[in-house]
Amino acid sequence: MAEKIHRVVYEPDGRTLFVPDGQTILEAARGAGIHINSPCGGTGTCAGCRVVIPEDPPPPTETCLRELTGEEIRRNVRLACQTRVHKDLRVVIPEESRLGDQMILTEGVEGAVALEPNVRKTTIPLPAPSVSDQRADADRLLDGLAEQGLADLRIDVKVIRELPERLRALDFRPAVVVIGRDVISVERPGTSDACHGIAFDIGTTTLVGYLMDLGSGKVVAVASRANPQAAYGDDVVARIEYCGRTEDGARRLHDLVVGALNEIVSEACRKAAVKPSAVYEATVVGNTTMNHLLLRLPVAPIARAPFVAASASAHSVSARDLGLRIHPRGRVYTAPLVASFVGADTVGVILATGMHTSDRLRLAIDIGTNGEIVLGTRERLLACSTAAGPAFEGARIRYGMRAATGAIDHVDLVDGRLVLHTIDEAPAIGLCGTGLIDAVAALLEAGVVDPSGRMRASGDAGALAPSLARRIVGADGETGFVLADKDETRSGHPILLTQRDIREVQLAKGAMAAGIAVLLDEYGARAAALEEVLLAGAFGNFIRPERALAIGLIPPVPLGEVRFVGNAAGSGARMLLVNRNLRRIADDVARGVEHVELSLRPDFQARFAEAMFFPAAGR
Ligand code: FES
Repeated sequence: MAEKIHRVVYEPDGRTLFVPDGQTILEAARGAGIHINSPCGGTGTCAGCRVVIPEDPPPPTETCLRELTGEEIRRNVRLACQTRVHKDLRVVIPEESRLGDQMILTEGVEGAVALEPNVRKTTIPLPAPSVSDQRADADRLLDGLAEQGLADLRIDVKVIRELPERLRALDFRPAVVVIGRDVISVERPGTSDACHGIAFDIGTTTLVGYLMDLGSGKVVAVASRANPQAAYGDDVVARIEYCGRTEDGARRLHDLVVGALNEIVSEACRKAAVKPSAVYEATVVGNTTMNHLLLRLPVAPIARAPFVAASASAHSVSARDLGLRIHPRGRVYTAPLVASFVGADTVGVILATGMHTSDRLRLAIDIGTNGEIVLGTRERLLACSTAAGPAFEGARIRYGMRAATGAIDHVDLVDGRLVLHTIDEAPAIGLCGTGLIDAVAALLEAGVVDPSGRMRASGDAGALAPSLARRIVGADGETGFVLADKDETRSGHPILLTQRDIREVQLAKGAMAAGIAVLLDEYGARAAALEEVLLAGAFGNFIRPERALAIGLIPPVPLGEVRFVGNAAGSGARMLLVNRNLRRIADDVARGVEHVELSLRPDFQARFAEAMFFPAAGR
């Protein structure tokens, strides 16, 4: 019997898809590259994939009834991952459920590093062969390179196949490209200055590429993309589960990330007027799951106790094998990893901040979708990872969204009045991570929320200013605080921070704070001994440190000891691109860092429970 097909129009773009009967709205959208947020990967637990079906919507499923409010159901909101297509539909993807356009951090610190790239390109005049000099072409080239100080090299047979013709066409004055010990290309003379590399930071949420001139060590262009794998889950565990559920899932996620990296290469090359064929090497830092998906290594054991990676080593692989469109014989170096949930991005942070060479006791916190924490000095470095991200990325928060236009990013309490700021000063759509931290800090300060995380009930205003008391409302069986009134929002509906949202923040900040407490314990130091707290990562850079201190996300240190280091993982990738010797140091760092597996610590749960409390206001 012929399969039933339905016509589904996805707004606001108006794209029409012909969808087999029974497929979910999310599955059909994913297949066509239409992005709908799906933080939990489509398992029905995050409510991040809300869509509106304006006309005659299918009845809500049990999961929709559980995850959505009564008011949302009445407005014909449904979860895209739970709603199956059994007839023609028009589906509207609201702004807060769309991916992309979030602010991506590309700046970072960089330790001073000597310019000694792994790629060298040099023009060498060779003597033409004669009856008295009958050396083979390959030997002639290797001898010429050795005379320039590039000894002990080898030439791949594929390069040798083209060598005789090329050398003669170039009148024995070739520009030679060497990566490590391999001669990979013989080119026209006068192109020696066209020698580039690209450093990638591949995060769970964002991908950034820095195109660098390897002759000067300078960044010549930067490009970034939202990680398209996010359509299959916001965090790495959801993506690993997706790979386990779907036969070609891992291949699909690999193709998605490589596709996005190729877009970054073309955009950066276009900006800098560089040919992609003059980009010879890429360096990559990323968490263990991103690293394995890129290298097509199995990911399932990463998420299962005892949490083991397939490989923690650095690798240098052919760009062509990976599908990366730089020079076809170019190489891709992936930096080494520490453990399953402490990846090469953490190694990048350590290299960029110089923690491995410093005598000062420092704590580095990289608050991405996962939170990675490093503590120590050159004598001893400890690291752990916590599942901090979902709330701070806007997931599992009723009106949560990424840092994009219309997100409330700052909340202040001025003379007892609430003052909001939105990205691009657009009408409010939702609340991003920094806005969330600000809002919680402001409500703690005002006494709307107490240190246990309990929000005052409506009608229990106590000594609150009337302008704040009126904002406490009942919201589908729980208490909520109206952050933005309906006339301040794009949708015309108020934006609330609910009691459940506060609990999510407590879970996220509790996990980070407990991780820090365990590392301090393990190190045998107290928070007061910290000489500096470094905030890294996209999110860390936009946080206001006084707010992070107010909610207890970072240990109580003087404000002046908190320093932003930007996208330090990306800085590490750049350093590894311009200095090949640093790769040996990266290996030592990755092997030397002591990984503390929090889930195996008997004291972690108690620490976590303790860390869920907020500091008392004004402390
Ligand atoms: S509830 Fe649909 S993706 Fe999470």
